[in-house]
Amino acid sequence: MKFFSGLSLVSTCVGVASAASSFTPARPPSIPLAVKSPYLTTWQAAGSNSGNGGYLAGQWPSFWSGAANGWTGLIRVDGTVYNWMGAPQLNTSVTTADQTSFTYTATSSVFVLTAGNVTVTATFLSPVTPEDLMRQSLHFSYLNVEVSANDDATHSVQLYTDISAEWVSGDRTNIAQWNYGTTGNNTNYHQVFRQTQQEFSEINNQAEWGNWYYGTSNSTDVTQQSGADAVVRGQFASNGSLTNAVDTDYRAINDRYPVFAFAKDFGSVNESVSVLFTIGLCQQDAVQFEGAQGNVSLPSLWTTYFSSDTDALDFFHGDFSDAQQTAQALDSKIASDSVAAAGNDYSTITSLAFRQAFAGLELTNTQDQPLYFLKEISSDGNVNTVDVIFPAHPVLLYANPTLLKYLLEPLLINQASGHYPNTYSMHDLGSSFPNGTGHENGNDEYMPLEECGNMNIMMAAYYQKTQDADFLSTYYNLTKQWTGYLIDEALMPGNQVSTDDFAGPLSNQTNLALKGIIAIQAAAQIANVTGNTDDAANFSSIATSYINQWYSLSNADDASPAHTTLNYGNDTSWGLLYNLWADTLLGYNLVKQEIYDQQTAFYETVFEEYGIPLDTRHTWTKGDWEIFVAAISGDSDTRSKLVSDLATWINETETNYPLTDLYDAVSGNYPDYPNGITFADRPVVGGLFAMLVAKN
Ligand SMILES: *[C@@H]1O[C@H](CO)[C@@H](O)[C@H](O)[C@H]1NC(C)=O
Ligand SMILES: *[C@@H]1O[C@H](CO)[C@@H](O)[C@H](O)[C@H]1NC(C)=O
Ligand SMILES: *[C@@H]1O[C@H](CO)[C@@H](O)[C@H](O)[C@H]1NC(C)=O
Ligand SMILES: *[C@@H]1O[C@H](CO)[C@@H](O)[C@H](O)[C@H]1NC(C)=O
Ligand SMILES: *[C@@H]1O[C@H](CO)[C@@H](O)[C@H](O)[C@H]1NC(C)=O
Ligand SMILES: *[C@@H]1O[C@H](CO)[C@@H](O)[C@H](O)[C@H]1NC(C)=O
Ligand SMILES: *[C@@H]1O[C@H](CO)[C@@H](O)[C@H](O)[C@H]1NC(C)=O
Ligand SMILES: *[C@@H]1O[C@H](CO)[C@@H](O)[C@H](O)[C@H]1NC(C)=O
Ligand SMILES: *[C@@H]1O[C@H](CO)[C@@H](O)[C@H](O)[C@H]1NC(C)=O
Ligand SMILES: *[C@@H]1O[C@H](CO)[C@@H](O)[C@H](O)[C@H]1NC(C)=O
Ligand SMILES: *[C@@H]1O[C@H](CO)[C@@H](O)[C@H](O)[C@H]1NC(C)=O
Ligand SMILES: *[C@@H]1O[C@H](CO)[C@@H](O)[C@H](O)[C@H]1NC(C)=O
Repeated sequence: MKFFSGLSLVSTCVGVASAASSFTPARPPSIPLAVKSPYLTTWQAAGSNSGNGGYLAGQWPSFWSGAANGWTGLIRVDGTVYNWMGAPQLNTSVTTADQTSFTYTATSSVFVLTAGNVTVTATFLSPVTPEDLMRQSLHFSYLNVEVSANDDATHSVQLYTDISAEWVSGDRTNIAQWNYGTTGNNTNYHQVFRQTQQEFSEINNQAEWGNWYYGTSNSTDVTQQSGADAVVRGQFASNGSLTNAVDTDYRAINDRYPVFAFAKDFGSVNESVSVLFTIGLCQQDAVQFEGAQGNVSLPSLWTTYFSSDTDALDFFHGDFSDAQQTAQALDSKIASDSVAAAGNDYSTITSLAFRQAFAGLELTNTQDQPLYFLKEISSDGNVNTVDVIFPAHPVLLYANPTLLKYLLEPLLINQASGHYPNTYSMHDLGSSFPNGTGHENGNDEYMPLEECGNMNIMMAAYYQKTQDADFLSTYYNLTKQWTGYLIDEALMPGNQVSTDDFAGPLSNQTNLALKGIIAIQAAAQIANVTGNTDDAANFSSIATSYINQWYSLSNADDASPAHTTLNYGNDTSWGLLYNLWADTLLGYNLVKQEIYDQQTAFYETVFEEYGIPLDTRHTWTKGDWEIFVAAISGDSDTRSKLVSDLATWINETETNYPLTDLYDAVSGNYPDYPNGITFADRPVVGGLFAMLVAKN
């Protein structure tokens, strides 16, 4: 696996806000703005490594990787121009609006800024609708801007926003092209795209195909313009409206940076007025997939609901008030479920993770057979990586377990149709998203025990939530084959990596063995409900025999307090025994309570500043695995401290990319920053929902 490191954040600071903003419930390392899919993931860096502390104005929004995604907000109040988003350079004097507060929920980020005598409230809503595939399939996000006077007077107000062509390619020397239009249902839009489309290609992780849209409702007080950034912004600053001119000199993204702008003239403002913008990406085909019939291109699922890009845009833009209500209900549910499970700090964590987890995923294919694809963002871009789906899957079990079936099925179809030569489960469906073109040669990353274990556990979990035994029957031959591998390898694992591959391979890993053994018990349940009762009895008796042997292999001799080891016989070692969570999830009670109690008591003795290290090899840790451990730690100090340390870390970390899952438990920074491993924006943060699906 390749490590993604040496990221550089492009940002220009043009102004420093004079007043301090509040941050509720916390100040995240990076703030989600438009975060909906692997290619629509735009953030505002906040952590001190190079973010500006969480202010919307004075720094460019960026793609998850740190590359600037030009997105500007200006406002004119009685002729005075204020900047409320991004870092535009203008000839005229521009005052940076004072940000007074920032608040996030599971689906929204809300900034409140003071621009002289008016207050600007910018709400970035990226809806997530786990039960509504039509809406979930759309790769659009909202920006709603509300303006009101903050004194008793009335003010003349014009609002401006633009996007640059930086959204359309990861190489800023590529040529962009654009159009302007109004849809049948009266949405004005700028369409921007890479002139030479390269389907299924990425540069610096950005998509090189598809059409980007920036839209708003048509009305007499809306003007638009495209052209060089300085010209278009300067026009607004000096005049308050745009010329409606369309620049047709299609050119490189970085050649007199073309921008695509709207201005809204609110006229006299005293009470609250607002304007809504929609941003997003339309790709007809989303991924390549090696299915039963070989390699095919799969359409984005939204194309089965809408006949054109602009129909999709129209629907989304017109759906705002319903989308907002649905989102608020979901935000409240996530917050209240989290508070009930483990307090306010837990809600701070889950609310930040939710959008990011879903934005690693993309719905494709047909309404009869939706296929869900995941990008292993930042760590290497693999497709549907099994040991990324495993840490992510708690959020799917929580939000809609059927989505887990859609996500596992591409892997299962590929292997059931004979495209993978190994007897163990594949690691991923393809090395580079969006190409789920399989591994005919079997040379994918070698992580056999981890992945066989993950597949059995997740298929049993899906069954328990849905009672869908037909799905298990369809793929029972694969389950049986993988369980054969587990029976051979789980008790005494050979020299191999676990999902934490950055730590390197090791023989006889205690936690990895435990996963394999629980997965044999999962196979017993799968066999049982699919009518393979002889297999069920056999698997069950093996799992029982193995766990009894594991007790003596796994524990450090004469340790006080007692604990399991990192690897068998290495008595001074220990690690987070997070795979125990699967036993609780599946309700097998395969592992005796004594192990749970012993580990919970032990963990209390090994806390660092920001949680518990992953194991004794390093001080780094994984936030997802910490929450798996918290979930099975009963109502203990270990549980509450793991949760509160992670919430504190979110608030204080210097990391400034979208929520990392790998950080140093002592410093709170990336491991060995700046030359270490930088995991960012990974969908594995779905694992932070572990306490909402299984808790002991
Ligand atoms: C606010 O408006 C008042 C007049 O209503 C004006 O005197 C004052 O300068 C304005 N403040 C700013 C910051 O523009
Ligand atoms: C996906 O495959 C196509 C060829 O079918 C290739 O052009 C493209 O670069 C690949 N994409 C990635 C991200 O590797
Ligand atoms: C946009 O709205 C204005 C004002 O209602 C109207 O005159 C114009 O025809 C509309 N434009 C389009 C393309 O529908
Ligand atoms: C800003 O100033 C520069 C240098 O004087 C000039 O070239 C440019 O045209 C100006 N831009 C605007 C929008 O006035
Ligand atoms: C802006 O430009 C329009 C069109 O040229 C003009 O009618 C208007 O007076 C200008 N407004 C300001 C405030 O300069
Ligand atoms: C706000 O302004 C409008 C139009 O100028 C006026 O009709 C209305 O009474 C004002 N409202 C308040 C609360 O000042
Ligand atoms: C356009 O508006 C009409 C009338 O409200 C509605 O029936 C239709 O579904 C809308 N079309 C789209 C694409 O949203
Ligand atoms: C499963 O394996 C059995 C025995 O090899 C075979 O008869 C059956 O066709 C296979 N089922 C599927 C769905 O491939
Ligand atoms: C794994 O542990 C067993 C039991 O202690 C031991 O016999 C075996 O040699 C170990 N395997 C490796 C590769 O170290
Ligand atoms: C199979 O299911 C039956 C009925 O639920 C249960 O009694 C039995 O213990 C199960 N066997 C295994 C091996 O899971
Ligand atoms: C024992 O664990 C330590 C970490 O605590 C590790 O560095 C070392 O390699 C392990 N030793 C063996 C023999 O596996
Ligand atoms: C984050 O820090 C702020 C300021 O120190 C504090 O008020 C807030 O309670 C903290 N939130 C969390 C979740 O730690």
